[in-house]
Amino acid sequence: MVLGLAGSPRRGGNTELLLDRALSGAASAGAQVEKVVLNRLKARPCQECGSCDTTGVCKMKDEMQSLYPKLEKTDGIVLASPIFFMSLSAQAKTIIDRCQAFWSRKYLLGRHIGRPGQKRLGLFIATGGTNRGYTFKPSITVVKSFFSTIEVGYFGELLYGSVDARGDILQHPSAMDDAFKAGVRLVEALLSEDTEPALPLEATPAKMPTSREAESANC
Ligand SMILES: Cc1cc2nc3c(=O)[nH]c(=O)nc-3n(C[C@H](O)[C@H](O)[C@H](O)COP(=O)(O)O)c2cc1C
Repeated sequence: MVLGLAGSPRRGGNTELLLDRALSGAASAGAQVEKVVLNRLKARPCQECGSCDTTGVCKMKDEMQSLYPKLEKTDGIVLASPIFFMSLSAQAKTIIDRCQAFWSRKYLLGRHIGRPGQKRLGLFIATGGTNRGYTFKPSITVVKSFFSTIEVGYFGELLYGSVDARGDILQHPSAMDDAFKAGVRLVEALLSEDTEPALPLEATPAKMPTSREAESANC
């Protein structure tokens, strides 16, 4: 099973287009796939109530409760988010913070996430309007922390800078193919005996500054 998390509020935007291709690739390699559009999920931010410290579960009664079992059971995750103010979208960050319940379960209560011996791998997809050396760095740190907390190995990342207007990503020469192949390789890695496969893909260099790059000096 490969779970796709669409982190953008913009339907059919750059990251969702890439996510859909990655999930198509995963499906073509034999995986059952499911996409959750996080903007549709009625989930409030973590209230830091501390209740999960002793129970390992979140007591907030909202639609995050339907995502917890999916995060727990899935073999693969593809998290797709636009870069917003140098980080992930609020939609993505909200569900990550709600995974404090898994953090408590793992680090305070000493219990594993997922089935015993289950191989779990995650792919991170992001686009940003700029393409500076640091555009994606904070988000990569957040996603690595998220995956590690829920016991998902970091499989790799697909990062595209200088991609701003809805559908800009379709002009990129290889992005849609890259995403499809990454989905295939994610499933192959899940099925293989290797322990820590990596997907060594790097942010694609900008050809032209986007309007955001021309206007903004700080993000
Ligand atoms: C609220 C907001 C904040 C943004 N902040 C950044 C930023 O800090 N750095 C950047 O490179 N792009 C930034 N962008 C541009 C988006 O990352 C870019 O347009 C992306 O391709 C959108 O992906 P989507 O179509 O999947 O939503 C921002 C856009 C919005 C709406």
